[in-house]
Amino acid sequence: MDLVRPSKIRVLVASNNVELVESIRLLLKESFAIDIIGTASDGNECLKKAVDVKPDVLLVDENIPRTPALEIARQMNSLAPMTSTLILADREDADFLRQVLLTGARDVITTPPTLDQLVSSITHAYELDAPRRRRVSLAAGGEGEYKVLSSRVVAVYGPKGGSGKTVVATNTAVFLAKTQPQGRVALVDLSLQFGDCGLALGLEPPRNIIDLLPVADELNIDYLNNVMVTHSSGLRFLSAPVQPQQAELVGDDAVRKILSALKRYFDYVVVDTSSSLTGATVAALEAADHILFICTPEVFSIRATKSALDLFSELGIAKANISLVLNKISKRLEIKPDEVARLFEDYPVAGSLPDDFVSLQPYINAGMTLAESPRSTPLTNAFKAIANQVVLKTAPKGA
Ligand SMILES: Nc1ncnc2c1ncn2[C@@H]1O[C@H](COP(=O)(O)OP(=O)(O)OP(=O)(O)O)[C@@H](O)[C@H]1O
Ligand SMILES: [Mg+2]
Repeated sequence: MDLVRPSKIRVLVASNNVELVESIRLLLKESFAIDIIGTASDGNECLKKAVDVKPDVLLVDENIPRTPALEIARQMNSLAPMTSTLILADREDADFLRQVLLTGARDVITTPPTLDQLVSSITHAYELDAPRRRRVSLAAGGEGEYKVLSSRVVAVYGPKGGSGKTVVATNTAVFLAKTQPQGRVALVDLSLQFGDCGLALGLEPPRNIIDLLPVADELNIDYLNNVMVTHSSGLRFLSAPVQPQQAELVGDDAVRKILSALKRYFDYVVVDTSSSLTGATVAALEAADHILFICTPEVFSIRATKSALDLFSELGIAKANISLVLNKISKRLEIKPDEVARLFEDYPVAGSLPDDFVSLQPYINAGMTLAESPRSTPLTNAFKAIANQVVLKTAPKGA
């Protein structure tokens, strides 16, 4: 059984209330993570479509005609056990909620719903049912886990603090999630002491990489789901520790195990790193299929780039797996991007990012990436180009 899941959660909406269906459709247009794949206007049609299209999540209106909603929810357990069911209702009293939960459905969404309610209920139901889907898949002879055809780890590194690693890692990951709808994308914050990818994405995950350490030898999708959170783009995020002193608990061995587990479930695993070449950073660089190496056009950064690239060579990291990202490019700077590219001519340039404080800061302050900007600016285009380069450079040979 094929468990490849596009990065979007596929939803079937069943209601004869045209206005309600339309409002849900309009709201979910705003979400990168959820797709409506069909609708049904009565109970019989709903069950038939659910069996045919096997949605990840079914939203069914309490007042749907022909088959009562709670009966549909009950039947879904045997007819479409991989689907999570949610009931749309204009009430949410405890007794009703109890009846709903007894059918095997996951929750009640009160109507009319807000975007936040829809996204959080759908995502939560989908994640809660991950273990069940895995069991059903195993029983049906499947692999019990998402099948990933070719997974790539993309590490973002720069030898100088503040060069733009986090900005590049978060934006590249979200652009990948948006532009590769068939690909599952994970972002790992391995800037272990002062990781700020969560801040950049507007996410405050309740758990982080430290919670994976006790189970590092037996990692599976359930453990990962339990610790990772979903961004509105569909990207899954694994946070750095909360306390800086916990950083040293994450050694090279744990990093290798975590990245290798993530490769089983994600098509792209983007890793933000720290400038200091600790065991964890080196393990991530060695595990990477591609390294985006950030360099800014000034003397200190250029000298550090030269030293770090020499060290990478000694570590046996293939030159072919490294490309440069020139960041904070500005006409005012004495050293021009072409000169930097010439200095490191063995390494291709995946992208040049203009120094654009004015477009970037409001997004960073709001916990958003430029992938969420409706405007197309040189900076957004440069990030998009880097994401495209990552796809090209890491494409399986012969693809
Ligand atoms: N192209 C750019 N234009 C303007 N500002 C930028 C650009 N790239 C990064 N910055 C700013 O530079 C600062 C440092 O960026 P960032 O945090 O991504 O660097 P870093 O390499 O991850 O730093 P650290 O080593 O501390 O983890 C941030 O304030 C960010 O907004
Ligand atoms: Mg950083």
